[in-house]
Parts: sequence; structure tokens; C-alpha cells
Amino acid sequence: MIPNKHFYFRFPALAVALAASAALLLAACAGPAEPPAKPAPSPAAPARYHAEGDGLALTPPMGWYPWNIFGQEPQNEKLIREIADALVASGMKDAGYAYVGPDEGICFSRGADGVLTPNLQRYPSGLRGLGDYIHGLGLKYALYTDAGSKTCSTAMPGTKGNEQADMKSFADWRADYIKIDWCNSEGQDIVKTYSLLGQAQRAAGRPLIHSLCSWGDGYPWQWAGAIGHMWRTTSDICAPGAADWARALRIAFANEKLADYAGPGRWNDPDMMIVGMPGLTDAQNRTLFSLWCMMASPLIAGNDLRGMAPATIAVLTNLEAIAVNQDPLGKQGHVIWNDGNISLWAEKPLFDGSRAVLLLYQGKHRAEKKILWEEIGFAASDALYVRNLWTHETSGPLTGGVTVSAGPEEAAFIRVSKANDFPIPPIITADSYRIVLRSNGSDPQAPAATITMTNKGSAELGLWKIDPKSVPSWLSVSVQGGGKRQMFVNKASTAGLAKGAYHALVRADNIEPVTGRPMSAFYYDVDMEVTDGGR
Ligand code: GLA
Repeated sequence: MIPNKHFYFRFPALAVALAASAALLLAACAGPAEPPAKPAPSPAAPARYHAEGDGLALTPPMGWYPWNIFGQEPQNEKLIREIADALVASGMKDAGYAYVGPDEGICFSRGADGVLTPNLQRYPSGLRGLGDYIHGLGLKYALYTDAGSKTCSTAMPGTKGNEQADMKSFADWRADYIKIDWCNSEGQDIVKTYSLLGQAQRAAGRPLIHSLCSWGDGYPWQWAGAIGHMWRTTSDICAPGAADWARALRIAFANEKLADYAGPGRWNDPDMMIVGMPGLTDAQNRTLFSLWCMMASPLIAGNDLRGMAPATIAVLTNLEAIAVNQDPLGKQGHVIWNDGNISLWAEKPLFDGSRAVLLLYQGKHRAEKKILWEEIGFAASDALYVRNLWTHETSGPLTGGVTVSAGPEEAAFIRVSKANDFPIPPIITADSYRIVLRSNGSDPQAPAATITMTNKGSAELGLWKIDPKSVPSWLSVSVQGGGKRQMFVNKASTAGLAKGAYHALVRADNIEPVTGRPMSAFYYDVDMEVTDGGR
């Protein structure tokens, strides 16, 4: 385990979390159950640039990052490849997890020319090579950097003063997601710095998820939606390798207060999950996962995916819970009632008119509580069906309310509906995010390849629409099939092309049919190599 040297720099963010939990404690001691105060929404709520522009992260990003379990030292290409393979083999890919890559894993240094150079000892295929491998598995590529002069451990250069060049390097390496930390940034203006990075990123021409990591410093929820897609709201959830249940709960209670700031394309990030890390019980794993799903938090797993216990896989791939997280309305649920032992989390309407509800019990024994329909947004007279999202059983129709029970450190997680039907919104997986076309004859050739998109949800999906602006003149793309399985058929023509390498980043968009809302845009790389003139 690596000591988290820079942890002490996080004091302001930690203070936010501690203050939040202290407030809770006070509320509990004071007796009557008052919901904790929420920060007022910022009058200058940021424009939703990304939702309108790049279409990314319209539901919370799902993936894996190494820091929580590994810290910095064991990170290298072999590890990341093994984890990516495990993500596919465990069924996590089919459940929607896509973004994977190194965190602060000594990936690069700055060369004499000022440009980032991959660390070929640790990443022998280079950072582009690792990205190609990940894309070939039908996963998305995540990388890490820092907005200051150095990363937190000081082992890697930060972007300060090199914002344009570094964002160009990340685009060249084909990153789809970049986490930008805030260590060693003394004297920098946080809004200006992250804005500059956002502009540099757009100038580099590859849309990617921008994950701001200032641990709540600078109150990013007030401004970061105009720059990136998600922002850390608190200090680290644990030191590497050391899951900390009490800290995770403090973080959840700090994060839930920011519900008003979240929505499609802009998410509060309470940090990577600790589900499946040593020291947690199955009940704690289920509870943490339920909380992250309820808060529409990015679902970034932080455990070792190789050789996971079946119970851990069952938690991370519970599609009924993921359906709450990936709901197209993108509402963050939050605490509506709390007596210090029991908290009721609600205000999470879902796309089909149902609602997710969570009851967290932090006491010592077993608790029961009746949840009344009018507390959770229904009429008292409604006859409703209740789906237990962990046992997958439905009860009802019930009038008035439902009594749920939970053991210590456990959450009851339910979905309540007027219909005896609990559809899973579209969850999309692709067989690959990269295709390679080759042509080696002198006659014009027409290499072709197909990408298959599968909807693992139960709800219908519209037809994908290819953005014509993203298709160069040497390529044509058509959508074939429909419903659950759609294909992008890519046909190139080498006529008139000189020898060389050609690249396109094709964008496809879809609409979620029930709500009429756009789904997260889908991008994939097409590489074509013309080894002889195509005339
Ligand atoms: C900060 C972040 C962590 C991790 C480390 C790497 O602590 O909050 O998630 O990226 O830096 O040093």
C-alpha cells in the first residue's frame, strides 16, 4: 500500500464532508427529524455545454479506475489489460461499464520538446497502443492528469502551462475520458484553469468525458457543468487498498446535498466505488452500490476485477439497480427524511413514471419503516407495485404505503410503480469501438467492417443516426438491423486516395423513445491504412 502523501492537502474538501456529517449528527441529537440543509442552487447555474455539444455522459459514466485498490505502484499495461479483459469476462461490460484505463500510474513524462512521452517500460505498447486494445474490446479509454504543475504523487508532470499540447496528446492517444486532478495547483484560479483545459480539449478535436477532480475545492458543482461532465464533490473515498465504510457514508451524505446540480451531462461524483474491496461485507457492498445508483453517481468500480467473488459480480452487475442509475431523466435522488439512524432517500423519478426509493439504516439492530406513498411523490390512494431491486420480487398492488426493513449498515432499495412492469432503460454495448480497414492493392478497393451495438436493457431504442459531419468522403456508414441489435456498416473507398493512414471518429446519436430525450452519443474510431496508391 502506498501512503497517500498528498492526502493532507485535501483538508478543505474533507472539511466539507466532516461538516456535513457533523450537521447530521447534530440533527440526530437534536431529536426531531429535520432534513439536512441543502446548499441553495447557484443563481449562475452553468450552461449545459456538453449535453448540447458533444452528447457525452447524458447518463452517469460507468467504468473502472485503479486508484482505490491499487494506488500508483502496480499500475502498468499488463494490469490494465487484465482488468479490461476481466471487465468483459465478468459481465460488467454487458451491464454498461465501459470506461477503463490507468489513473496516476506513471504513464508519461514530459520530453525535452515539451510534449508528453509515454512510459514505455510500464506501457510497452505506448498509450495509443493500450487505447487501441481497450477499444478493440468494445470498451472506452480513460486516462488521468493533473491541472497543476505535477500530479499528486509528483511522479508525473501536470498540465500547467502545457494545456494545449497535453490535451492534443490525450486526443492522439485516443482517450475518451480524462480525469484531471487538482494537486500542486497553488496560486492557480480553479475556474480559469479548468476552463482553459476544457477549451484546449475541444481544440484538440476529440470529444471526451472531462472528469474534474478538485475534491469539492472551489465548489465545482456551481460552475463545472459548463466545462466538463462530472466533478468530485469530496475528498478521496479511501486511501489505496483501505476501504473505509464510515468515510464512504460521510461522502454519500455530503454528496446527496448537491442533488440540484446534477443532470444529464453533468454529474456530482462522490468518487470511485469501494464495492468489492477487502473488508466490506456483502450487505455493505449492496448498500454502497444502491446509494451510488440512487444518487445518479458515476459508477466507476474501484476494486480488483480479476477473480471477483460471485457476490461482488452480482452487486456490480445488478441491472435493476443500474437501471435506476442510468435512467434517462438523470435525476439525483437525495435524503428527504433522516432521524440519524434511518434516512429516506427519494425524489428520483424514472423514465417510465416509476420512482426509486432507498431506506438506509445505520443503527445496530434491524429496522422497519412504513414508507407512505405521499412521501415519495404518489397519491395516498394510488395502488402501487413495489419491486425489491435486490431480491427481484414484486409485491402489490398496495395502497397507502409499504413497510420495508433493513439490517445494520443496510439499505432497502425499491422501485415503486403504477404498473406491474419495471423496464430497464436502454443499456448499450458495442462489440468494438475501433475498426481497422486495410487496402493494399493499387486498384481502388472497398474495405468494409461492421460494428454491432446491442441494447441490454428491456426498453426499446430508436434507430441510431449517423452524424454526416463525422463521416469523411472516403467512408460511408449505414445503420442496419433495428431494435435490440443494430449494426453500423462501414464501407470505405480508396479511389483517389494517396498512400497513408486515414482516420475518422464517427458519431452516432439516438433518442430514448419513451421520454424523447437524447441518449449519450456514441463515438467510434475508423482507421484505414492505404499501403499503395488507391488510384
Ligand atoms: C487524488 C485523486 C485520486 C487519485 C490520486 C492519484 O487523490 O482524488 O482519485 O487520482 O489523486 O494520485
